[in-house]
Amino acid sequence: MTALPPSLISTLPGGYYADEGVFALEQAKIFESMWFCAVRASDLGRPGAFRTVQVGRESVLVTRARDGSIRAFLNVCRHRGARLRTEESGEVRHAFSCPYHAWTYDLEGRLIAAPNLTGMPDVDRVAFGLVNVHVREWLGYAWVCLADDPPSFEADVVGEVVTRLGAEEPIGNYGVDDLAVGRRIVYDVKANWKLLVENFMECYHCATIHPELTEVLPEFADGYAAQSFVGHGAEFGENIHGFTVDGSQGVDRIPGVGEDQDRRYYAITIKPQVFVNLVPDHVIIHRMFPLAAGRTIVECDWLFREDVVGRGADLGPSVELFHRVNVQDFEACERCQPAMSSRAYGRGGVLVPSEHHIGAFHDWVLGRLGAASA
Ligand code: FES
Ligand code: FE
Repeated sequence: MTALPPSLISTLPGGYYADEGVFALEQAKIFESMWFCAVRASDLGRPGAFRTVQVGRESVLVTRARDGSIRAFLNVCRHRGARLRTEESGEVRHAFSCPYHAWTYDLEGRLIAAPNLTGMPDVDRVAFGLVNVHVREWLGYAWVCLADDPPSFEADVVGEVVTRLGAEEPIGNYGVDDLAVGRRIVYDVKANWKLLVENFMECYHCATIHPELTEVLPEFADGYAAQSFVGHGAEFGENIHGFTVDGSQGVDRIPGVGEDQDRRYYAITIKPQVFVNLVPDHVIIHRMFPLAAGRTIVECDWLFREDVVGRGADLGPSVELFHRVNVQDFEACERCQPAMSSRAYGRGGVLVPSEHHIGAFHDWVLGRLGAASA
């Protein structure tokens, strides 16, 4: 391949998006090694409520213990390895009982009962408890880490947000912990997770595929993504009253949002699998669950003030704007995915200048995988 002019840099080769071997390496070195945003804490309303989520190659059971804290375990019975729960969510009263031979674990993961063990020496109830997974709560989500020795949450997760916004208080102003889920939509996207990250990072495509979004945020029509510049929030257009599909007034503003954050949109990527969008009256959080090289489940939450959700305010115009953006973006990613295996993309494509910050993401991926260069 002839060298690109210096104003252009190349993307990762197509194989990075299609090869299951690369994906397996990413599962080990990225999703099973870093903090992973797993579950909205409010989905675990009371002790015994649980969710199962896929983190790398592992199924993780996240639940609320009797003391109110969130616990996470590998979803694997210690006896002969049965999946304890196969549903995505549910609730148990006191304990998880394995459907195979009824070994039973309390909400703290200790083995509390194993029937018919006569003739067998005592089974150590702690040693044969469920395997613990590290948990941290932030922004109202349970973040889990499968590493034995997790990396610093402050540096890797909080630090990503601070780097993007320039300080810690801007996200604190939105009180994301206390917001309520007004709407959740789950998307099953037939594309590699990195295509989704790259798409979220750039706005070169905005003028082509996001007519509603560029109406609300006119600067996006010029192709510059809000997250290319530290602390920059894209300003609403002159005749725009709210971050809604038709520019109409949204719902009640989040109380802590500062004057400088009003009428502005901020976008943040928290590597490896979270996108955060901040607007004055709601917050949109995407969590990706990569399942295969070519398949990613995205759970998208629209978070509003609790009183707004509680009184049944019309969230439709607010939700519809970013739902359309999601559909437009995911269709674009699905359009690219099959071509990642084409000879035409064997050496990858090109990043134009307004996409150059995506190059840093590629370097980060390669660094995690221990690869020197693409
Ligand atoms: Fe769970 Fe036997 S595999 S009790
Ligand atoms: Fe987009």
